[in-house]
Amino acid sequence: MLAAVGEVIAVKGTKILVKVFEEYNKEFLYYQGIQYKGIAIREHLIVRRGFSDIICIVEGEYLDETRAESTDEKISYIRKIEVKPIGYISQKKFTEGIKHLPMIKDSVHLVAESSLRLVYGDTENQSDFTIGTLMREGIAVCLPWLNLFNTHIGIFGNTGSGKSNTLAKLYSVLLSKLDKKNVDSSFILLDFNGEYTGGTQFINESNKTVIQLNPLKENAPKIRIREQEFWDKDVLRILFKATENTQTPFIGRVVAGREKFNERDDSTKKFIEATVKKAFTTSSPRKEMKELLLNVAKSLDCKPLVETLEQIAWHSSQNKFYLPKSATHPKKDIWFNSDDSEYINHFSENFIETVALDCFQELSIRINLQLINDLSQGFVQFEHIQPLLGRIRESSRLLKNLIEVAKGDEESYDKRLLTIISLKLCNDQSLKKVAALLIVRHYYYTHRETVNSPPNKTVHFIIDEAHNILSQQSVREAETWKDYRLELFEEVIKEGRKFGFFLTICSQRPADISPTIMSQIHNFFIHRLVNDRDLQLLENTVSTLDNLSKSMIPHLAKGCCVVTGTSFDIPMIQQIEQLKTEQQPNSGDVNLLELWKIEKKTKSQPKRRIGRRK
Ligand SMILES: Nc1ncnc2c1ncn2[C@@H]1O[C@H](COP(=O)(O)OP(=O)(O)OP(=O)(O)O)[C@@H](O)[C@H]1O
Ligand SMILES: [Mg+2]
Repeated sequence: MLAAVGEVIAVKGTKILVKVFEEYNKEFLYYQGIQYKGIAIREHLIVRRGFSDIICIVEGEYLDETRAESTDEKISYIRKIEVKPIGYISQKKFTEGIKHLPMIKDSVHLVAESSLRLVYGDTENQSDFTIGTLMREGIAVCLPWLNLFNTHIGIFGNTGSGKSNTLAKLYSVLLSKLDKKNVDSSFILLDFNGEYTGGTQFINESNKTVIQLNPLKENAPKIRIREQEFWDKDVLRILFKATENTQTPFIGRVVAGREKFNERDDSTKKFIEATVKKAFTTSSPRKEMKELLLNVAKSLDCKPLVETLEQIAWHSSQNKFYLPKSATHPKKDIWFNSDDSEYINHFSENFIETVALDCFQELSIRINLQLINDLSQGFVQFEHIQPLLGRIRESSRLLKNLIEVAKGDEESYDKRLLTIISLKLCNDQSLKKVAALLIVRHYYYTHRETVNSPPNKTVHFIIDEAHNILSQQSVREAETWKDYRLELFEEVIKEGRKFGFFLTICSQRPADISPTIMSQIHNFFIHRLVNDRDLQLLENTVSTLDNLSKSMIPHLAKGCCVVTGTSFDIPMIQQIEQLKTEQQPNSGDVNLLELWKIEKKTKSQPKRRIGRRK
């Protein structure tokens, strides 16, 4: 135990007043040859109470003027400090919370480094997981990492405050521990700005996959999702922004129709044949049907069918299709209105071949066919569905380059410890969101289906710049889509823990993120934040944040953060260690001095004296 530096003079609830002995009012104190920091705000002290040491934090100090305590009636000032107990050490173990309270005249001592490690470090597992040092004391403390990675983590702070560095440091240390072990966990990092696509970040290249999505390049790497994930009413609805009342039920019919006959190999071909027949022989044909069939023929890339369809004409007064006289049948026009129209059998049998279709082609074909069927039965108005066709055509062009649909139950990606998916080249905001959503959905559902209970494997999903996808504020997007997006993430964050699916979210604006998501995060690394709304939100959602740490948040230096949450006994402020240059995310500050080629002044010239010499 270090020497006493003061004594308790008042106890008002949990507020304790300590009188500091005069000789200890110095910036540094020395005891047995070791230097200690003097007593200042946020510094720790120990109050001895019987066999336990009560750990306190200094919250304030002031000078008290007194005459009574001085012998010669001169005014003297006594330094008094206010401290708050945070826990106690008993039998070399720190317990958080107020069990013992000091009493007047108890002696107050400085805290040795070993005791501080007991307070902030991971004493249970004796681990060596360090990512930084305590800001004031400069002591490296071990984080309780086994608890920490078993929870959802939030990293928040203004731009340039060091979030990406903290995220990278946290996972670099973790992955370096897991690197050589054969663990059944995967780490997926969603990188909106391409900060982590360099070869040297996190772990060596043999253990990670980097996927750079590019919607404008046909043979760029793609997100591989399973067939059933694509042919899902909700996914298609959001991919193509279907309207609630007419287009969504329509998509539902397309998906249900496919499911019904999916067992058969040639279900698409049969569907085409039946629909061609229906289009021309229905009792209520519609002019648009030809156009829709042409779309199908073009998607199939079937030239003879396109040519034949182009010859077919619409008789507007009779409201019927017919094939005008031509070289192939010079005698008379062929009218398509009876069931025995041979001509129709002829072209459906001869021209329609099912080629290997990708999902987007199949979707486009099925949408057109379904519309013909629905029109013939009078289920829908053509004008209501037409915009959807346009949107599907337009979006498919880009989405085709982002998504690849795996047939059957094929393994989604090769099994590496870390997968980094960069969305930097997706310029379109909505495309970015759609891609991110599909990725999370894919990993979440695949994991949920295959995991045992209790979980035999885990997925750690890391999202840097999460406001891109979790924001609640965006007014440009449709409500239904926003709801679906947030609902999915809310489900992941609410239910994921049970299945061993954990999120790590990094964002500049906690206030932008859905409150449900914020309230489910267990552990926080809070860097400098100045906005009032953000601070207010943190106050409401982070129950473990104390007033003193909270008041520090707007003033934290680069790389400093308040670390708090369910895995930590008490909040601490850590200076996170900066990663080595080659391991840093590509998000460093711009060096304007170098960029603008400004020469540094080497030595300033001595200024000339103005005035007369003597
Ligand atoms: N622990 C640290 N110590 C010292 N400097 C740091 C530390 N962390 C980050 N920096 C520096 O701060 C700058 C910004 O860091 P970083 O990219 O991590 O910020 P950020 O919070 O992720 O910003 P943004 O929100 O814009 O992505 C970098 O130049 C980096 O070198
Ligand atoms: Mg960043």
